[in-house]
Amino acid sequence: MKKNIALLAGDGIGPEVIDQALKVLGAIEKRFGHSFEYHPGDVGAIAIDNTGSPLPQATLDVCLAADAILFGAIGDPKYDNDPNATVRPEQGLLGLRKAMGLFANIRPVTTYPTLIHLSPLKEEKVTGVDLLILRELTGGIYFGDKGWNKEEGNAYDTCFYKVDEIERISKLAFEYAKIRRNKVTLVDKANVLESSRLWRDTVTKYAAANYPEVELDFMFVDNAAMQLIQFPKQFDVILTSNMFGDILSDEASVLPGSMGLLPSASIGVHTSMFEPIHGSFPQGTGKNIANPMATILSAAMMLESIEMVKEAQVIRQAVKDVLEKGIGTPELAPSIPLGCKEVGDIVTAVVAEGDDFSFNSYLANVSTTA
Ligand code: IPM
Ligand code: MN
Repeated sequence: MKKNIALLAGDGIGPEVIDQALKVLGAIEKRFGHSFEYHPGDVGAIAIDNTGSPLPQATLDVCLAADAILFGAIGDPKYDNDPNATVRPEQGLLGLRKAMGLFANIRPVTTYPTLIHLSPLKEEKVTGVDLLILRELTGGIYFGDKGWNKEEGNAYDTCFYKVDEIERISKLAFEYAKIRRNKVTLVDKANVLESSRLWRDTVTKYAAANYPEVELDFMFVDNAAMQLIQFPKQFDVILTSNMFGDILSDEASVLPGSMGLLPSASIGVHTSMFEPIHGSFPQGTGKNIANPMATILSAAMMLESIEMVKEAQVIRQAVKDVLEKGIGTPELAPSIPLGCKEVGDIVTAVVAEGDDFSFNSYLANVSTTA
């Protein structure tokens, strides 16, 4: 198959981790006879530097014309501590979500047995965690009416949702639950917020009418923050609004031991986008220490979305095999520490050679990082 992929590497470690995913995708092309055509675009701080806009029209055009979008990371410390900055890298990502109609962000959280010891939780609490967060991505407080009245010294952000926005993401949540463990937990703050009461009412009716066979329960977001730490195994699909999902997905992302392992997908009315959940890690930029696994696994999610299910499986298995051999970037404190590029190389080799791959002979020729 021939596919067009928009490549938005972004800032910081974005380009480094994207390069590793591209190597792995190259091995997939060869092994399965596909051809991927890449169309790069600037986004984030790099786009501001080059064009003045965090999301230039040219980038949007490339995304709209693509079969899928592979995204690295955005963000630059030079903008973080300036509340008066009017142009910010994050606007690139938010603008892209809105313009592409990417209304659902999907973040699977799974654990790797060999890395469980890195989890901040006790091993027995976290072993077997397998949950999926479905975060609404183009509505709520992120996109509602907002303002900052400097003379009067006040500011506001409005959380606004419509029934159809809630229903379309609910449908996805229930469909995922059906192929998983058949349970959806709606996380909200319905004891305080009207918009949360709308979510609860809408999801309850939608579920009763369309998915009576799926278990649906409700949890207030403060309690959910606690339950994710105390009993994370109880969750299957967590369905929630934009802001709550932003916070809870960062919380959930540390359960497996490293943020560097988790991919995500944003899907909607147009082309879908795939990105690691970690940020641009400015302190690690150019040091060859970033963990490329989350981006490589995002590429796997991307392949799944373009009907390359077997290919996605090959990538996931390769990542698993590499991690199980004790190989990884330094933050995993692995028995065989390698750089970002070298981890990318070895996953690529496993994908390329399949069952013929031998870790022993490969590693005999690789020098490990300190
Ligand atoms: C995320 C990020 C973004 C968000 C930022 C960079 C705008 O934190 O993808 O979770 O808040 O949605
Ligand atoms: Mn976030």
